Amino acid sequence: MQLAARMASIGTESAFEAAARARALEATGRSVIHLEIGEPDFDTPANIRAAARRALDTGKTHYPPYSGIPELRAAIAADSALRRGFAPDPADVFVTVGGKGVMYYAILALVNPGDEVIVPDPGYPIYESVTRFVGGTPVPIAIRQENDFRLDPAELASLVTERTRLIVINSPANPTGGVLTPEDLQAIADIAIRHDLVVLSDEIYSRILYDGATHTSIAALPGMRERTIVLDGFSKTWAMTGWRLGYGLVPEWLHFAFGRLLINSVSGATTFAQWGAVEAISGPQDEVDAMVEEFRARRDLVVDGLNAMSGVSCLRPVGAFYVFPEITGTGLTGAQLADRLLQEAGVSVLAGTAFGQVGTNHIRLSYANSRENIAEALRRMATVIEPIVAGRAAGATR
Ligand SMILES: Cc1ncc(COP(=O)(O)O)c(C=O)c1O
Repeated sequence: MQLAARMASIGTESAFEAAARARALEATGRSVIHLEIGEPDFDTPANIRAAARRALDTGKTHYPPYSGIPELRAAIAADSALRRGFAPDPADVFVTVGGKGVMYYAILALVNPGDEVIVPDPGYPIYESVTRFVGGTPVPIAIRQENDFRLDPAELASLVTERTRLIVINSPANPTGGVLTPEDLQAIADIAIRHDLVVLSDEIYSRILYDGATHTSIAALPGMRERTIVLDGFSKTWAMTGWRLGYGLVPEWLHFAFGRLLINSVSGATTFAQWGAVEAISGPQDEVDAMVEEFRARRDLVVDGLNAMSGVSCLRPVGAFYVFPEITGTGLTGAQLADRLLQEAGVSVLAGTAFGQVGTNHIRLSYANSRENIAEALRRMATVIEPIVAGRAAGATR
């Protein structure tokens, strides 16, 4: 018996593996603080849970229309009109199992073997993994701390070849928290239009913004709607990771492809969960505001705490709930430091290389954890990092 050849090219999301490693250590009785997984620690707000419960109790237990229930597609279209700067038709909305579904379908629908997909490095690892899985070639575009974790449009232009089919952007970004400016988006749009490329715009963190930052969707720019697939979802904004609900805003020429892929995979996202999502997107939003405000306070705690450590340099991102500090001053790679933090301090973080090679000297922390746990994690991290840096300094002066 043997696996199909294509299984040799599929990657993974190492956050899940790191979490399993951390849990294995916990099972031996060690205390571990989890800063590896990108999952809000809040429970889904009560009004959303009640709406799903009502749906279950009133017979919403049958197959949905494969592209989503009309009530949810209309609510998503209305929400996008309000905050994305363009008004999609409800027919453009495809409800998927997780935001990840949109990623998968976009790449399956567009990428032939040998085609190139430009992906952020560091970036969410599934863009690269699925590209390889379908026989495509991921082409990394560097996202650097010295450029505020924004891509450089001139560098992007230099990576486009005759084989390029798709550019993936993600703002606010995982793992850096970086946010693209309207000027960046315009420059990316110009490149996409000039070379007739499609953009997959992952906007799953677009509601998690701080310090007055606002979201701009590249799909709202002139000429971009017909060449942009917007990915968003319910996991992060409403703390609904386990509901597995996302959506794509899909241009008309891709409706057939998305429909066929949905029918061939999941037949539609869970019906009663979609009723919960209607309440999430069109009900009161005060709990979202409160969660974002809490994330902001945690961001400041984690950024200030990291910058107070020798050998660590951390930007203060204005979006998402991650930081991606540079740790060159420790003399260790991100992978080595992540390993030592887990083993010696019981703090689980990810190596920057979980997101691409550019992140070699970084680690990623998710601050979707309580302030109390974050403060304790910082204290424990300092007990590992400070002696390492002091030891290096002493070695250098000897
Ligand atoms: C950038 C990015 N896109 C998409 C997803 C997938 O979200 P979902 O859980 O809705 O599939 C994640 C989840 O971590 C993410 O970080």
